[in-house]
Amino acid sequence: MVRIGNIQLPEFPLLLAPMEDVSDPPFRRLCKTHGADLMFSEFISSEGLIRDAIKSRQKLDIFDYERPVGIQIFGGDEEAMAMSARIVETVNPDLVDINFGCPVKKVVCKGAGAGVLKDVGLMVRLTKAVVNSTSLPVTVKTRLGWDETSINIDEVAERLQDVGIKALTIHGRTRAQMYKGEADWSHIARVKNNPRINIPIFGNGDIDTPEKALDYKNRYGIDGIMVGRAAIGYPWIFNEIKHYFKTGTCLPAPTVEDRVEAARNHLKWAVEWKGERVGVFETRRHYANYFKGIPNFKEYRQRMVTHDAAADVYSVMDEVLEKFAGYKIA
Ligand SMILES: Cc1cc2nc3c(=O)[nH]c(=O)nc-3n(C[C@H](O)[C@H](O)[C@H](O)COP(=O)(O)O)c2cc1C
Repeated sequence: MVRIGNIQLPEFPLLLAPMEDVSDPPFRRLCKTHGADLMFSEFISSEGLIRDAIKSRQKLDIFDYERPVGIQIFGGDEEAMAMSARIVETVNPDLVDINFGCPVKKVVCKGAGAGVLKDVGLMVRLTKAVVNSTSLPVTVKTRLGWDETSINIDEVAERLQDVGIKALTIHGRTRAQMYKGEADWSHIARVKNNPRINIPIFGNGDIDTPEKALDYKNRYGIDGIMVGRAAIGYPWIFNEIKHYFKTGTCLPAPTVEDRVEAARNHLKWAVEWKGERVGVFETRRHYANYFKGIPNFKEYRQRMVTHDAAADVYSVMDEVLEKFAGYKIA
């Protein structure tokens, strides 16, 4: 069993990564349905929360069926981070996660996200400010370091544990790598094997098949795995990994029927959450992913993303079902 503060997770939990514009309640619900053990909101600006920006506020929406769920915040100012942690606490998530990994320029330039990897002192102060202002467990997600000449995850892990974080997720890339190259999990394994470290260490980066998940689990000895991109349009990845761990065999791939059902639920839950206009609009970006591998799908996708009424989108999905029922996606 893995524990984060008083949250109990199964042995070797699978985590859904926080992903901007992706990890919202409808998507999280799908991932939960298909086996994710712990999920996170997309990152939320501490400054936005304090300004009471509607966009930031809406990202705080969580529902009981998705628990345990964490809210992720980012920012480069101690007071703003402390205040936003208190705002987050009012919506009662299971934990607060701090983003020290975002490589995007507009975040890094403000001394937030992966920007703080260049200033571990600031990273520690920001973390302390959050830990001291909430009774919720605080976790951190970060990268190996700023660039390959300054990998400092060993020091970061020890110092953040010392100020009270309850788990650490490490994406095996530096900020300079952005999303290029391959994640290097050997650094993550070294942190996990540090006798000073007693909090759960979760590995992240490039897990996209059950075979790879098992290989990395055995090879790197981490406490659990966080999956990001591989879950987009493919929430089945979580149960596929779990099944493979248990049996050494692969579950049958989702059928066209399964894919239509997932896309339907995604749209339905988005509409329930945000209303028809916004729900229909925000689900558009997901269809290509759910139906990847279906031949000549473009024409159907084109129609799905131009309808404004959910009923019309469902009709196109019915057509997909009729046309491709039984089709085996390679
Ligand atoms: C579209 C997208 C949005 C992301 N947004 C966030 C975010 O809000 N917070 C965060 O900590 N990481 C974010 N990430 C990084 C992921 O959480 C994860 O660390 C990264 O994708 C590597 O894992 P993967 O190879 O399993 O995708 C994002 C990644 C993608 C692709």
